[in-house]
Amino acid sequence: MESRHPSYVTSGEFTTAHPDLLAAAKDFADDYPTDVQQPIAFTHKAHLEHHMKCANCHQGVASGPDATIPNVKLCMICHLVIATDKPEIKKVAAYQKKGEEIPWRRVYWFYQSAHVKFRHGPHIRADVDCATCHGDMKDQTVAVRKAGLDMGFCVGCHRVHKAPTDCTTCHY
Ligand code: HEC
Ligand code: HEC
Ligand code: HEC
Ligand code: HEC
Ligand code: HEC
Repeated sequence: MESRHPSYVTSGEFTTAHPDLLAAAKDFADDYPTDVQQPIAFTHKAHLEHHMKCANCHQGVASGPDATIPNVKLCMICHLVIATDKPEIKKVAAYQKKGEEIPWRRVYWFYQSAHVKFRHGPHIRADVDCATCHGDMKDQTVAVRKAGLDMGFCVGCHRVHKAPTDCTTCHY
């Protein structure tokens, strides 16, 4: 039984990795893990309190196919001088020094067997708030998958907003 929980290798790209047996078991149950372990104790809360915008880091969210996760270079623009004595920041700096990206694990994704295609662009242009699908990030350190991103959730809102509901809108 092979797990298909993906992780990012660089901004916007991911590979299929094999985290552990528990994740593999959840995969078999067609359930999504909500307790993803990240390599750095990142905090959305602290950055949002400093008035950063989502798109400062997730630069593809309005335009690209993927929202994207920022590369370590972007982190170090600030962390070359900010909080440099903190252990987590030392880890970030060490990745950059080695010339490696931080191996973030994906939180939101769909099993390949569901054949779902999703794009942010149309939602952002239609003013759908990020929190509708991802919860309030001001309360989150690392991102935690919000429950209930199932077909009923998607189709229910599409009906209300008169967005397309034929199967091929969301499936390939
Ligand atoms: C625009 C500047 C900026 C960028 C870009 C930035 N940060 Fe930060 N980061 C901050 C500020 C400001 C704080 C809060 C520092 C404080 O409260 O002492 C912070 C705090 C943190 C902390 C908590 C440190 C601690 O233990 O108190 C971590 C971890 C962190 N950042 C990681 C990252 C990572 C990883 C990236 C890249 C994905 C990143 N940051 C990008 C400005 C930035
Ligand atoms: C209508 C629901 C919805 C809204 C609104 C939404 N997202 Fe997402 N987001 C998703 C889904 C679904 C995925 C998983 C996509 C996949 O696996 O193809 C995702 C994935 C992501 C990812 C990781 C994968 C990637 O695309 O790089 C990031 C980062 C992200 N969203 C950020 C945001 C931000 C920032 C906003 C607001 C500006 C936002 N999202 C608004 C549903 C949404
Ligand atoms: C300082 C940079 C930064 C800012 C600002 C930021 N994020 Fe993130 N975001 C990250 C990093 C790094 C990760 C990967 C670690 C994690 O999963 O928490 C991430 C992960 C995520 C994920 C999960 C991606 C996945 O793998 O599925 C979502 C959803 C997300 N962010 C939404 C948001 C939203 C919404 C905002 C604005 C309210 C926001 N982020 C602001 C850096 C940032
Ligand atoms: C909160 C409401 C809402 C939710 C939840 C939502 N959508 Fe949407 N979706 C929209 C709106 C509004 C549009 C824009 C329609 C337009 O541009 O006319 C849209 C557009 C789309 C499009 C592009 C349609 C096209 O071809 O123009 C796709 C694909 C899509 N959504 C997939 C999804 C999937 C998959 C989910 C669940 C993970 C989802 N949506 C959840 C409101 C929503
Ligand atoms: C607005 C987006 C959207 C539309 C329209 C849509 N679906 Fe879905 N569908 C999803 C999402 C999201 C999932 C859940 C994937 C998951 O959680 O793994 C899903 C799951 C499914 C599954 C279960 C697959 C699995 O392995 O979990 C089937 C079967 C399915 N859809 C068939 C259809 C059919 C048939 C239609 C047309 C009548 C349709 N869908 C229309 C978004 C949509």
